[in-house]
Amino acid sequence: IRLAVLFGGRSGEHEVSCQSAASILASLDRERYEVMPVRIGRDGVWASVPAMPDLPAIEEVLQWQQNGFPETGDTTLAGSILAVARELTLCDMVFPALHGPFGEDGAVQAMLEGFGIPYVGNGVAASALSMDKEYTKKIAASAGLAVADGVVLRKGQHDISPEDRDRLGLPVFVKPAREGSSIGVSKVEEWAELPEALDRARKSDDKVLVEAAVPGREIDIGVLERPNGALEVSPPMEILPTGEHTFFDYQAKYADSATVFDVPATLDSATTHAIGQDALRLFRELDCSGLLRVDFFLRPDGTRILNEVNTFPGFTSVSQYPRMWQAAGLGYSDLLNVLIDTALA
Ligand code: DAL
Ligand code: MG
Repeated sequence: IRLAVLFGGRSGEHEVSCQSAASILASLDRERYEVMPVRIGRDGVWASVPAMPDLPAIEEVLQWQQNGFPETGDTTLAGSILAVARELTLCDMVFPALHGPFGEDGAVQAMLEGFGIPYVGNGVAASALSMDKEYTKKIAASAGLAVADGVVLRKGQHDISPEDRDRLGLPVFVKPAREGSSIGVSKVEEWAELPEALDRARKSDDKVLVEAAVPGREIDIGVLERPNGALEVSPPMEILPTGEHTFFDYQAKYADSATVFDVPATLDSATTHAIGQDALRLFRELDCSGLLRVDFFLRPDGTRILNEVNTFPGFTSVSQYPRMWQAAGLGYSDLLNVLIDTALA
């Protein structure tokens, strides 16, 4: 199978995507796949990493990330897109290992639909709806899932009403509507901090959510589609950020090895079952395909609140989604095979 792996991209999660792709490139079964790594720069320039007899090792990809990629040929936007497009047409399928806007939001998926090239994972609508926390919450609520109370501030809106302040209470979380990895997210403890938090969120997105904080445990769960269309849920995982992180922020996610992932999470079987059923319902309501990671808060009274979903969750071999499947007995390379086989089915 000739497989193009797209990584990098224009979003704030460029680095995270390079890390995910490094694990993917190093773990694809060399007997099954002829792999063409395609790196998308922060500036949007696509570059195919020259064909290699062997797949690059993780260390190699990470080194390219530091020192520049071994790009060849025309590196202008037009030249590189033409060169990559020519190669993409020779591929059997594409693996978009991209996180965040332009890669995980349906943009790249729409382009591939237009070309008629099969690709791994979620389609245009599922990706767009799941990237946008306003729409994810609307669909989740209509499916009967509880979501955090919040207010949406659109372009040009710079404050929330006294009534909304009273209702939400403090602290609140301020989030860009369409971003990942907690980039641009702030915890606001005093209303005087709100303007600065809005500015930070607006570096990522004109649309911002101000949400009531949900005290409770943070529990993730994975959904995986098999080639025959059957859906499976993984064991749930609890995220235990330690140290000085007041929430699971970018540093806690990627820089702090002290964050503990507990899988399977210590939950009673009724709660585990209920979280799995919620995740399956959401996968269907969002029109997902292939995979989804669903993140919940579990309040002390046992009720569940949806936090968010990820249509292409972090995918290093130690990221939550692969680790949850590992705990279910499905190893990393086999997980990649399932995703690819499902996309081709
Ligand atoms: N958006 C990051 C990659 C995650 O959810 O894992
Ligand atoms: Mg996310």
